[in-house]
Amino acid sequence: QEDHEDESKVKNPRSDSKPPLTLPVAPPLYDAPFPFYRRPAEMGRFSLDAKRCFHGDARQMRYYVPPPAEGPSPGFDLRDGYRDRYVQRDDSVREGLDHLLQWIVENRKQLQTEDKGKLLNADFVTWRGHLTKVLTTPYESREGWLLAVTLFRGTLYISEFETEAARREREQRSEMLKELTYMGYKFEQYMCADTPDGIPDPTGVVNTNEAFCTVIRSRLGSHSLLFSGEVDCTDPRSPSPQPPSCYVELKTSKVMHSPAQRRSFYRHKIIKWWAQSFLPGVSRIVAGYRGPDGSVVGLETFETMKIFKLIRDDRGCWKPAVCMNFCAAFLAFLKTVVTEDNPKLVHLFAWNPGHPVSYTVHQDSQYRFLPDWYVEALSA
Ligand code: A3P
Ligand code: MG
Ligand code: MG
Repeated sequence: QEDHEDESKVKNPRSDSKPPLTLPVAPPLYDAPFPFYRRPAEMGRFSLDAKRCFHGDARQMRYYVPPPAEGPSPGFDLRDGYRDRYVQRDDSVREGLDHLLQWIVENRKQLQTEDKGKLLNADFVTWRGHLTKVLTTPYESREGWLLAVTLFRGTLYISEFETEAARREREQRSEMLKELTYMGYKFEQYMCADTPDGIPDPTGVVNTNEAFCTVIRSRLGSHSLLFSGEVDCTDPRSPSPQPPSCYVELKTSKVMHSPAQRRSFYRHKIIKWWAQSFLPGVSRIVAGYRGPDGSVVGLETFETMKIFKLIRDDRGCWKPAVCMNFCAAFLAFLKTVVTEDNPKLVHLFAWNPGHPVSYTVHQDSQYRFLPDWYVEALSA
């Protein structure tokens, strides 16, 4: 099931000092000490409302409210409202980096540099979710990805395109999978209030257009990063009250009954939870375990910085350092390959399990993702 077969041929650059054409992904190649990763700092926030409209403020922020009875079962029914109180975001619409770019345009003064060739004070601009996929690549055996990269005024922008396989999967999703997706959002509604002293309202509508996003600055090795990610809620009673560490990531997962099930969860699932929250410095992940009837049968809190302890004794498990070293190598690869500063030029990096990362070059094509309004706003 090879995606984009016609595009996976690697184009030979004509210059004499040829950059490498592919990047290998095998974990042993990246099994080195953990690289430098600067403590993530929040640069700003924005919200997307019930109609998916952008607002440069935190109006969609929600507040963490664990259930009062710290018992084994909080009595949440994750299926409630699926048929009659669910407004789904249209996921066939490609949003690209647009909301993040809008935030950048509105905040460009605080991002500008002295450096003449470079407009923004960042080597890379992207979504946190794209970086999460890069981090987990050495251990991913099922889903490939396509990441489009453009160099504009000294900054590399990374925007994901849906693979053919992902599009097919999205269009053919079963009713059961759709309900499972709903249940993830429903869990958020049970765990969050709209105000710091409020209580959750599970009688309300679940609208997946709504989002609160944090904009984060960090550095991985020699690569300065500016990225944004959706945040589920903040804990007003957090022992570390500063964002982003006061943020809480909510997750649902099937209840586990055996040590083998838990080991498999550590090997294959918690890697994604860790990568997603480690990147922006979200310090806690709260899991709601689903029973077969869709009720939550237990809660468990994971401290993001302690997840490595759960896996380090399992020889067949993933390693945080491999994820981060691969990401640093991937970003270095982008810097060597994408050297022409041109908002219409896209290098499309493609990866499929069992293969190295490769790329193709596209001028003014369907893959162009920096909108004219952005290029003009930053040229003024
Ligand atoms: P769960 O992760 O609890 O299943 P997030 O956890 O990142 O805040 O996302 C909230 C919910 O959106 C998820 O809840 C899941 O239901 C849905 N979701 C997120 N990413 C998804 C994906 N790639 N495919 C399908 N559903 C997804
Ligand atoms: Mg979320
Ligand atoms: Mg979540």
